[in-house]
Amino acid sequence: MAAIQDILRGLTILFNNKDSKLPSVPEVPGLPVIGNLLQLKEKKPFIKFTEWSEQYGPIYSIKAGASTVVVLNSTNVAKEAMVTRYSSISTRKLSKALSILSQDKNMVAMSDHNDFHKMVKRYILANVLGTEAQIRHTCHREAMVDNIVRKLHEHANTTNNQAVNFRKIFVSELFGVALKQAFGKDVESVYVKELGGTISRQDILKILVTDLMEGAIEIDWRDFFPYLQWVPNDKIENKILQIHLRRKAVMNALIQEHKKHIASGEELNCYIDYLLSEAKSLSEDQISMLLWETIIETSDTTLVTTEWAMYELSKHQDKQDQLYQELQSIHANKKITWETLSQLPYLGAVFHETLRKHSPVPIVPLRHCHEDTQLGGYHIPAGNEVAINIYGCNMDKNQWENPEEWMPERFLKGKYDPMDLFKTMAFGGGKRACAGALQAMLIACATIGTLVQQFQWSLAEGEDDNVDTTGLTTHKLHPLLVIPKPRTSSEGLNINCQKR
Ligand code: HEM
Repeated sequence: MAAIQDILRGLTILFNNKDSKLPSVPEVPGLPVIGNLLQLKEKKPFIKFTEWSEQYGPIYSIKAGASTVVVLNSTNVAKEAMVTRYSSISTRKLSKALSILSQDKNMVAMSDHNDFHKMVKRYILANVLGTEAQIRHTCHREAMVDNIVRKLHEHANTTNNQAVNFRKIFVSELFGVALKQAFGKDVESVYVKELGGTISRQDILKILVTDLMEGAIEIDWRDFFPYLQWVPNDKIENKILQIHLRRKAVMNALIQEHKKHIASGEELNCYIDYLLSEAKSLSEDQISMLLWETIIETSDTTLVTTEWAMYELSKHQDKQDQLYQELQSIHANKKITWETLSQLPYLGAVFHETLRKHSPVPIVPLRHCHEDTQLGGYHIPAGNEVAINIYGCNMDKNQWENPEEWMPERFLKGKYDPMDLFKTMAFGGGKRACAGALQAMLIACATIGTLVQQFQWSLAEGEDDNVDTTGLTTHKLHPLLVIPKPRTSSEGLNINCQKR
């Protein structure tokens, strides 16, 4: 039997891989023409990929219609793709939906590695996400945390220990930070001619964030059969186009509104002012996309992380107590600021363990091999796509003890530098590593720490089992319902509430 397997393997290498002495990657068996598509019909391929890695190892290939996708499931092989072999795997393979929604890769995160990418990455780091920019935006983050605390105290004072929808409060405040970074101020409503009138902040959030995240996971079967691109698929294409046009109309309205402030001489510390005055080589559409990118990226993944962290802390009272003890011994009732985060190792461990177990970006948007290369000792021919299964890397039993368990203590062991943002694969790695990791850490840690300092948290009844996820990022399927019990009365607290 083993001999037959060896002969078959030899033949596969001979025919698939003529120029390389390296073997071809193991293949997950599938059906003719459609390959493994039926096995992936749920919109959570990262779970199936991780299951397959137990049988086929950390690297294997699948067939998605006409494409061969090499799937990577361990930190070592993922890092090899992101760092060592990056120059051969640096282009993006976008679905039809993502091509429309990213307006043909006109975003930092979706662009290929080229001069455009280098330029716009410089812009986003200098104005929004780099250390100095984040220091300039401190007031927005602090106002956000103060507003959340105020709303939660109001809730606790008026409802007598009833559960609160954590997401509803948090997402609205996070969106405020996103708008302030992009436009210098929050927005209550805006007139959008194309939509026939003035739309509310709630609608702006839906059109700029929620609808886009839903549209991004729409699957057009033609993605898997490029030779059938000519076949019309109007329903899906129109849906995505509508999402894109509504986004474009709202962004345009916000930009026009902002130009009126500029004309009146009002100065605001924000990204749009920089892009309009300095980024001369960019078109209006490109400026709109770059601004929108900071809004959607700020409003989504940090919400995912903070919501899951509050879920885990509410479930594990002992861990919540440990965090509270740390906050009391180091901070008493003082405000948590970015300068003091490095003194709070357990808070950092809560953040990283949540990123590990609930990887907000479970799979890196597909990359494309534009030349022959190798990964994990296997030959990878040009034309293959590469899927980096971050969820799989962060749940790898060979790297993490009891990966299913949420155990912040694992990050307190001496081998981790407390301020290293890349302890897990959650933020990716190499040249395309997350540009917003610092912002995500500052917002999530300040929020989680302050909320545990001020309230004792427990899960609402039945919430324990609500662990299902949905979406492109791993959103909790059902918004978190938790009971916040104030540790002290709101009058005694050192909070500086700034309403919108
Ligand atoms: C917990 C929160 C976050 C997680 C887990 C996360 C995860 C990731 C991952 C995995 C990548 C790499 C994609 C790749 O290799 O192709 C990435 C890229 C990126 N992220 Fe994040 N992200 C988070 C928050 C943010 C925030 C708040 C922003 C900005 C407001 C942001 C902006 C970006 C940008 C611009 C890139 C592209 C970098 C490049 O291509 O050079 N991220 N993120």
